[in-house]
Amino acid sequence: MAVIELEKVRREFPDGTVAVRDIDLRIEDGEFVILVGPSGCGKSTLLRMIIGLEDVTSGTVRIDGEDMTDRQPRDRNLAMVFQDYALYPHLTVRENMEFPLRLAKREQGEINRAVDEAVAMLEIEELLDRKPAQLSGGQRQRVAMGRAMVRQPNAFLLDEPLSNLDAKLRVQMRLEISRLQDRLGVTTVYVTHDQTEAMTLGDRVAVMRKGTIQQIGTPRDLYLRPGNLFVAGFVGSPAMNFFPARVRDGRVELPMLSYDLPAGLRELGDMLEQRDVIAGIRPEHFAWIGAAGARDADVGVDDSDEAVRFRARIDVLEWLGSELYAHFHVTRGDRSGRERTSLHDVADELAEIGVRAPEEQLTVARIDPASEVTEGKEADIWLDTGRVHFFDADTGENLALTRSEPAATG
Ligand SMILES: Nc1ncnc2c1ncn2[C@@H]1O[C@H](COP(=O)(O)OP(=O)(O)OP(=O)(O)O)[C@@H](O)[C@H]1O
Ligand SMILES: [Mg+2]
Repeated sequence: MAVIELEKVRREFPDGTVAVRDIDLRIEDGEFVILVGPSGCGKSTLLRMIIGLEDVTSGTVRIDGEDMTDRQPRDRNLAMVFQDYALYPHLTVRENMEFPLRLAKREQGEINRAVDEAVAMLEIEELLDRKPAQLSGGQRQRVAMGRAMVRQPNAFLLDEPLSNLDAKLRVQMRLEISRLQDRLGVTTVYVTHDQTEAMTLGDRVAVMRKGTIQQIGTPRDLYLRPGNLFVAGFVGSPAMNFFPARVRDGRVELPMLSYDLPAGLRELGDMLEQRDVIAGIRPEHFAWIGAAGARDADVGVDDSDEAVRFRARIDVLEWLGSELYAHFHVTRGDRSGRERTSLHDVADELAEIGVRAPEEQLTVARIDPASEVTEGKEADIWLDTGRVHFFDADTGENLALTRSEPAATG
């Protein structure tokens, strides 16, 4: 088992593309770390540099304290599982699993023991004599894991191992990988662009963008305290809603309502007033939604100053059984008219993964399935104002986190 340390690791391709920009990352022994981010952000390149399949332009890769930057993959004793599993089609399952050990010239007794152990753990006894073409996607995935396990590597490196599976199987295999990692306790780095996979699997999640790590933390940390607009938009499904906002004289002005800055944020008031601000609201922080005209008491919202109400027309209701999503329009407009290069940059990237830009009009709220609302009709919507995030419109930074103490609310 291994501690993996990356120090200012950079990968620049001959054509000038910088795929990984001076990344620092320390992965503890036995830890399960996820690299997540949109397509092209450098996840696979970083993983390949750890295992030694990709040259490191500058920086250092250390495994258990030893400099491995220029060492061959075989010297690192790490095992990689690829998206397409890369099983040998002409070999049986058993032969595929034996392969890395034969290559390492281990003796037959040892090979048998290692394979039998992995086979038992993965419950694939009945598949041993089949060829990969005779296996389902999930079974191939298991065999690929088995082939990685038999070597007793110091770490597993997995590059989107579940992306070829259908949704249901993906959920099942996700649980299996999680259990397996728990049992083996082997350091694991797992690449995915699926934020649900990232949030459910990892001890820590590194959100990547354009060859950098934007934020690394526990799933809970990333969700409750996103460091910037990109992380806030990337983590969570449906994604956070963004609105242009302004803070004046202790009041927050959003396109659909204004309210007093909540107690927990008052000390930030001056700082917020001096900036263009983007407000971020998660769908579940629209606390409740009811038929227009309902009184607060009718819908169980107390009149604490943390919840305020506005009215909007519900365009679309999406009912998923346990959850109900209401989509409504809020006319936003762009208050400042200033050029916001960095922000538009982020907005474009987020748009690619389905996040709506701050100027867009549609908003999504997750509401109580028992709410009495009708498509095409107006409804009262409560906003839990204690949960609103504020981002700097120029830098995208989460302004509540620039204080010495992290924000108490999410
Ligand atoms: N051999 C290469 N030469 C030049 N550019 C490359 C090469 N390989 C990758 N890149 C570029 O490096 C960047 C990072 O690629 P990488 O494969 O690491 O992304 P990724 O995050 O794994 O994306 P995906 O989710 O699509 O797999 C991309 O812009 C890609 O086009
Ligand atoms: Mg990739």
